[in-house]
Amino acid sequence: MKKISKVEVMHHLEKEILNAIPLYLKPVETIWQSADLLPQSDNEAFFDHFKELQAKASNLSYDLLAVLIGDTITEEVLPTYETWLSLIHPVNDGTEGGWSQWVRAWTSEENRHGDVLNKYLYLSGRVNMREMEISTQHLLTDGFDIGTARDPYRSFIYTSFQELATNLSHRRVAQFAKQEGDDLLAKICGHVASDEARHATAYKSFVSWIFEIDPNQMMIAFEDMMRRNIVMPAHFLREKGLAKGESFRHFSEAAQRLGVYTATDYINILSSLIKEWKIDAINNLTENGEKARDYIMMLPSRLSKLAERISPQPSSHKFSWIYT
Ligand SMILES: [Fe+2]
Ligand SMILES: [Fe+2]
Repeated sequence: MKKISKVEVMHHLEKEILNAIPLYLKPVETIWQSADLLPQSDNEAFFDHFKELQAKASNLSYDLLAVLIGDTITEEVLPTYETWLSLIHPVNDGTEGGWSQWVRAWTSEENRHGDVLNKYLYLSGRVNMREMEISTQHLLTDGFDIGTARDPYRSFIYTSFQELATNLSHRRVAQFAKQEGDDLLAKICGHVASDEARHATAYKSFVSWIFEIDPNQMMIAFEDMMRRNIVMPAHFLREKGLAKGESFRHFSEAAQRLGVYTATDYINILSSLIKEWKIDAINNLTENGEKARDYIMMLPSRLSKLAERISPQPSSHKFSWIYT
């Protein structure tokens, strides 16, 4: 089997990545913006719309609000992801390649997520914005190490997984918001979720292309990322006065209690990726590649046994972000 370098593969994919921009991302001037969804202060009826928003937000449950704030902070630390993605391309020859354009275009879509959610929370009257802003600044300062180093293969596994996870959690928040009577929040989160679904499709196809060209190294990268566990970007979430990462457990427990993002969801995402990339049918592998494939194929059932033992924990933590 001819050994191919990751730099060569990424060069080979330049054109596909350029083509992916109009295929998976939407035109700037027609895609939704926060202004399409939220009350606008230049509108005569602004105060009526604002009061309506607050009336609906007043009914949101504590856990739903906690998860929504955690999700918003996760979106707001976009500079961390942009820096990380900008660094992974192994080619840094100073030319404007497809990858740089993709990262900028993807970032420009993502930037709207934190923006719309932050504005909604600001208007809701339920949130101590200063505390939330401190948590956001902490998370940006702390950064995150998700174990991909500067490897595009590991990074695309991460982004495929993470876009599916954010799609799911925003979609579920939308469902719960609707149940709790906040149709505006449901609409906002539904819009964000549909962006995440397009992003997931893009990153999954990048991985599919690499599996066609360089199956062995791609398989090993997949195995390596799964052995580490895919950690949420909010992993180091903290509140004022708390240690790095201390608030993540409470946020994650709220998500698990509510059913917004659970251990079973993690397994289902993994299973969907195994199916999407037809992992079981990939055979042109070295011995290490075969071991990696077999590990991945066994993983969902192993994780399911562990997940059975996880039961939602009652809430004991009071988030500084939330006025009760
Ligand atoms: Fe997002
Ligand atoms: Fe996304």
